[in-house]
Amino acid sequence: MCGIVGYVGPKSCGDLLVDGLRRLEYRGYDSAGLAVHDGKEIRVVRSVGKLGNLVSALKERPLAGAPGIGHTRWATHGRPSETNAHPHVAGGIALVHNGIIENHLHLKRQLMEQGVKFSSDTDTEIVAHLVEREVRAGHKLLEAVRRALAVVEGAYAVAVLHKDEPDRIVIAKNASPLVIGLGEGETYCASDIPAILPYTRTMVLLEEGEIALLTAGGVEITTLKGERVDRKPKTITWNAAQAEKSGYKHFMLKEIHEQPRAIEDTMRGRIDLEKWDIIDSEIGIDAAAAADVKRVYFIACGTSFHASLFGRYLVESLSGLPATCELASELVVRDPVVGPGDLVVAVSQSGETIDTLAALKAAKDRGARILALANVLDSAIPRAAHGSLYTHAGPEIGVASTKCFTAQLAAMVLLAVYLGRRRNVLSTDRAREVLQGMLEVPHRMRDVLSQDDSLRDLARKFQHAKSFLFLGRGVSFPIAVEGALKLKEISYIHAEGYAAGEMKHGPIALIDENMPVVVVMPRDRTYEKTLSNLQEVKAREGRTLALATRGDAEVGAIADHVFYLPKVDAMLTPFITSLPLQLLAYYVADFKGTDVDQPRNLAKTVTVE
Ligand code: G6P
Repeated sequence: MCGIVGYVGPKSCGDLLVDGLRRLEYRGYDSAGLAVHDGKEIRVVRSVGKLGNLVSALKERPLAGAPGIGHTRWATHGRPSETNAHPHVAGGIALVHNGIIENHLHLKRQLMEQGVKFSSDTDTEIVAHLVEREVRAGHKLLEAVRRALAVVEGAYAVAVLHKDEPDRIVIAKNASPLVIGLGEGETYCASDIPAILPYTRTMVLLEEGEIALLTAGGVEITTLKGERVDRKPKTITWNAAQAEKSGYKHFMLKEIHEQPRAIEDTMRGRIDLEKWDIIDSEIGIDAAAAADVKRVYFIACGTSFHASLFGRYLVESLSGLPATCELASELVVRDPVVGPGDLVVAVSQSGETIDTLAALKAAKDRGARILALANVLDSAIPRAAHGSLYTHAGPEIGVASTKCFTAQLAAMVLLAVYLGRRRNVLSTDRAREVLQGMLEVPHRMRDVLSQDDSLRDLARKFQHAKSFLFLGRGVSFPIAVEGALKLKEISYIHAEGYAAGEMKHGPIALIDENMPVVVVMPRDRTYEKTLSNLQEVKAREGRTLALATRGDAEVGAIADHVFYLPKVDAMLTPFITSLPLQLLAYYVADFKGTDVDQPRNLAKTVTVE
């Protein structure tokens, strides 16, 4: 999830582009760069790290002129470095990109066979070379970009300059956002509204599969197939703070709603739809090593630990390997029996958590193979591991993790299927069921998220409770524990997540008419037993909220409140059951007026033991 900004008009645009990038830094910030046409040629300045570094580089090498394009990067392919920073240049072309090119390996191989030399490890540079090839064949920039994108599969928003056409920017989009801002004799573009809101409130949103020619006089939009598009501009009424959160009240709520996209991006380019398999190069452990694994050992903290609890079910069920799951801070104080034959999966959204890093080192010292599962490219945990599997959730700003959590669940499905296939224990039919189910998950998630209002109503009813109990069995157990963690993190209400079968061994003593009990009970093989637990809670006057599968009349007759969920494969219900619990926690906290995005005493990245 990178940020793009562009300007074409009479002003010298260096400062304006930096200003736009500053407002896009929330989209990613490991490197940044500008390309500006100075009237004769395109000049590029890039630097690694925060935007301040680019500002310092521009002091030494100022860029004057227009048009110009800028980019702030959140790495997905190729580590954060100056050579991997955008804009990427090929001949007279400079290009910035946000998204993931799925067929990058195939395209890169083709271009190399044609003698193209690459100067970065990015998927983006491929697109720059593809456009340049079309320009060399005699096409104008607009047509060249159209032709180049015809062979590109994946998600992209691109903005492109050409040395010989100094009055224009060409932009195009598929699945990644782009907005166009219309000024007086000047035109802007950006990944998101806040970047250009100080300059204009008149905007046109580019839709999937569209390409636009931006000049100082305005914009001409066509589809990638060449059909003309007439779209009326909108007037944006948000203030700057609302715009940064896409109109949501908090980053957390925005990130909850970004989950379908985070899952799509995490799966993008990693599934072979013909063989119903996982593409080898995408998992961070090669096929031979995967076939040799004897046990999978997850280590993690906090929300990542809850994702790991689900990972254990997946690995056991889909790969037939024994799997275990350990809090990183506990592993390091034991004499863990871990070593050769173990695949230790260090799960961490930040990739920096010190406890997880310490546990990783302990396991590595004992001879285990280490796979990092992280959201931040080239962070400490991936650097210390033998290989990495990245989630592509984009930067998460709310301290309480939401989209990184479900993206971790998605990465774990890919890992479990991969291990099952390489060990020849997972049939193609079952792999197809699971992967097809995964491809449908984002749609089912959107269905749940569209019922946001009913969760707000439920939260209003429960906001004054002093303590909550969350119950679940099987794959719903990690979700119950994570639901309780979300609530306590941001609303400061005490909450416990318990395996439903353990309720009778303690928590049942707490149940009375003041105690809300949230029961996660989709229709799966644990359903009947959890239904008995629900009855036990009711018999003790507990206030119950059940999450159940649509059409489940039995639950409706017992629970005080039911939130109905769309049906998915029994193994994949956590993707769906997580969402109402996140929204419940969010709305309870918001009613209480807490600082949702930065709850007291908590930090996003914990680098102390
Ligand atoms: C902190 C964050 C949690 C996160 C945990 C582990 O406590 O507030 O949201 O789950 O660290 O972080 P990691 O980056 O390793 O996933």
